[in-house]
Order: sequence, then C-alpha cells, then structure tokens
Amino acid sequence: MNEYLNKDLSSIKKLSQEQFEALFEINRALNADVYRQSLIENVLDIIIDTLKAERSLFARFDDIETKIIAARNSEKKSIEDIKEFSSGVIQKVIELQQPILYHDVQGDPQLSQFHSVQLKNIKSVIGVPVFREKKIWGIILADTQLNRKEFTDSNLVFLQFFSNLVSLALDRIDSVEKLKDENELLANRISTVDKLPDIVGESKAMQELSSIIHKVSRTDATVLLLGESGTGKELVAHAIHQLSARRNKPYLAQFCGSIPESLLESELFGYKKGAFTGAVNDKKGLLEVSESGTFFLDEIGEISPAVQTKLLRVIENREITRLGDTSVRKVDIRLIAATNKNLAALVEDGEFREDLFYRLNVFPVTLPPLRQRYGDIPILARHFLKQFKNNDLIIEPDALKKLEDYNWPGNVRQLINVLQRAAILSETNRIGSEHIHLPEAKISVDFSGTLKDIEKGLLEERLKQYNGNRTHTAHSLGVSVRWVQLKLKELSIE
Ligand SMILES: Nc1ncnc2c1ncn2[C@@H]1O[C@H](COP(=O)(O)OP(=O)(O)O)[C@@H](O)[C@H]1O
Ligand SMILES: [Mg+2]
Repeated sequence: MNEYLNKDLSSIKKLSQEQFEALFEINRALNADVYRQSLIENVLDIIIDTLKAERSLFARFDDIETKIIAARNSEKKSIEDIKEFSSGVIQKVIELQQPILYHDVQGDPQLSQFHSVQLKNIKSVIGVPVFREKKIWGIILADTQLNRKEFTDSNLVFLQFFSNLVSLALDRIDSVEKLKDENELLANRISTVDKLPDIVGESKAMQELSSIIHKVSRTDATVLLLGESGTGKELVAHAIHQLSARRNKPYLAQFCGSIPESLLESELFGYKKGAFTGAVNDKKGLLEVSESGTFFLDEIGEISPAVQTKLLRVIENREITRLGDTSVRKVDIRLIAATNKNLAALVEDGEFREDLFYRLNVFPVTLPPLRQRYGDIPILARHFLKQFKNNDLIIEPDALKKLEDYNWPGNVRQLINVLQRAAILSETNRIGSEHIHLPEAKISVDFSGTLKDIEKGLLEERLKQYNGNRTHTAHSLGVSVRWVQLKLKELSIE
C-alpha cells in the first residue's frame, strides 16, 4: 500500500459524501477493466466527472522520463494534441513525490518557473503521483480553465485515494496480463509436444508430424495428406479438424476412389429435383452440409476430369452448384485432401488437372510409412491389442521383435490385421511369435547381371527399406551385422 496515503488517512474526513460515493463507484469500475489502456482512460474520465475538470492526463514515469499515455477531455474523448499540458507541474509532482494543487495559475508567482503560453488558459491544476512498489509509477494531472470552478483541498484528498485505487487496479491488470501470457506460452508448448487425438506414436517422425499438424490446424489452409496406404491419413484429417477452430462444426468425408462419377458428383454437390431420374427431391450435397466445418476428400487422385473441374471451382471461389440447378451457393469450408498416389506424376501424365493440383498442394503433409518408425511398433501393438480384448493381452518380446523386423507394406492398417489375427490364434492372454503371421516381404531385385550386382541391389534395397538400420537389415537377410558392414565396404555402398 501507498505509504504516503497511510500517513494521511485522517484526511479522508475531508471527503464529501459525493466523493465518497464516487470512490466506491470507481473501485467497482477499476476492477472490471482488463486492459491497461482502457483502465487508464476510464480513470481519466472519472476524474473529469468527479472534479468537474476540463481535461485530465496520465503520464507514465520510468525513472528517467515521463511519457504521456492518455489524455482526455470532458467529452470523454482522447486529446490528440497534448502540448498544452504543463510538463512543469508533472516534474514538480515527481520531484516532491507528493500531490500538488495550484490555484489561480495565472496570478501565482510560484508558477512563474513554469511560465509558458501553455498555461495561459488554465485556472487551476492538480497533480497526483501514482505509486507502485513505493516508487512513482505515473502521474495523474487534471486542470480547469478560466471559466470553471477552482479545485479544492478536498479534491486533492480525493485524488490521492483515487490514485491508490488505480495503483491496485494496475497491479491486478498486470498479473492478469502476465497470466494470460503464461497461458499462451503453455498452450503453445503443449501443442508442440502434445499428442494428436487418437493418434499413437512417439517416434521422431511422429513428433515432427504432430507439431506440423498442430500448426496447420490453427489455419484454414487446404491440406494435402500424402503417404502410403494405411499410414493414418484419414486419422490425421480428422485430427486437423478436431484441433481447429471449426471443431464444433461438421466434419464430413468422402471417399473418392472407385465410385461412379455421377454418384460422386451428386454426393458432393447435391442436386435439384428432376436433375436425373430418381432425383425426386432437392438434395443438399455433402459439401453444403459441411458448411462452416471441414470436408475431407479421400483418395483425391482417383477423381474424374469432370469432378476435378467442379472441385477447382469449389476451391477457387468457395462456390457450389447443385446438379441440374442454376443458382450458385457460397460455402465456407476447410478442405483436406488425401492420396497415396504421386499427384505430380499424374499431372505429368495428363490425368490430373495441374491447376487443381496447385490449389490442393498448398500445404502438403507426408505421413511416414511404418518402416520408417519402428520405434512406434511396441506402443501401437499394445494400443491395438487393448482395443481387441478388454483383458490385457501381453505381447512377448520375440513377437514384438518379429513385428519390428518386418517391412510393413500395408503400414498401420496391416499391423492391425496381423495383430487381430494373432489375438484370435492365441488361446491365452499372451501373444508369442508363433501367433504372428506375416506375408513374405516382396523382393524387388533384378536377377539379370552378376551375383555381385544382385548382392549389391538386394543390400541397397533392404537398407532403404529399413531406413539405413544395419541391425534390421542384417536380421532380415539372415546374416550378421558384421557381414553387412563388410559387404558395405566391399561393394562400396554409402
Ligand atoms: N498413428 C496411429 N495411431 C493409431 N492408429 C492408427 C495410426 N495410424 C493409423 N492408424 C489406424 O490404422 C488404420 C489405417 O489408417 P487410415 O487413416 O485409414 O490410413 P490411410 O487413410 O492413410 O490409408 C486405421 O484404423 C487407423 O485408425
Ligand atoms: Mg485412407
């Protein structure tokens, strides 16, 4: 608390009933503001009202200089041109560390030191320090002009109490602001390390993916999810929606692969009654139904040229036309698309519109195949086994090892299938390697050439498959790690 004020508490008796009431009101008002600038402006308006002042000003003092933060007039407007206030009075408040009151400014010889044209219209000035942590933090100044009443001592006392309340309110605002900042920081930190909803994985690849997903979720950008089949594209699309500001709005998805063009069109865009035989009513398309939400176009690489053209229009103008209709409807949707195809290659082959490709490719995100994140296999396995049976299924180390040594062309989807089968085969609550059945890994080696060529090709292929991991490579080839190392040297493989 303000020391200066405590010494002088008896002076409170000087306050009029009206000023008491004002203080009460003010305390309420001050506690309602959450932003510093608006608090200060409110303070100045209250002062003008209560003191019947003409103008008031708030200057911030930071040990070196004073800076005017806000100035108001009796119309509750900010004064832009604040040259006319007396900086001399402000200096005096800082110097004396006390409130000051000057009557009859024009006739006071004491004020000759502030002599300036700036004061020529001013009749009385009141200046009060605002203390924070025992130091002057700011100065409140109010003045009246020639045609007004003079300030009184009781006005001065009022302002002292007032300034103390302001100081408390400022403390409160600062701590609220600090809390808000801290919260923001925390939210940010959590979002970069936090898991994605329903998505399991702690590998570096998944952590990177998670951080990208969290970032792009905050925007409305179109996202293109790339990656092999079964890597979790659908899961990620849904996660983006759940993490976005649209989370409470609809999320709809359309699988675009192997579905007749006319059916896909009517699903996406809807139709007008009579548009085709069987169109007995008007029907909204899914894009329209997902208004304000997110729409996921799965297997976008499969869509026909006609649908590509219509989708381009949706992306470019956020407009759709129902089949057989002429009116154009605006939609506000966030689009996410996914494909396991190489869209750029499809563009080159003339099978996919280049302009649509660029519109979709705004923010491509590639999901890593499972063989590039073996580290996730144990937790993924436990996660799925728990889902199959309520009682805890235990997976034995040799079974895990078998899973980790496989190259998973079908990715997580294949892992789920393999585990499902294992859970059925196992009659107890344990899963051993004998329950894990894996199809032979395909070998894509060219058998022409010398034995050395084949050896080299196979080794390179395997290394790539296991992301350069020599232990996994050696194990999959049934040789020692030492053998792999020697061969790498011998065949000069990087
Ligand atoms: N990281 C993951 N954590 C948990 N489940 C996953 C993960 N990745 C994929 N899945 C599951 O694997 C299956 C295939 O995923 P999906 O999103 O359909 O793949 P994609 O669309 O890429 O073919 C789904 O059942 C999905 O729930
Ligand atoms: Mg899919």
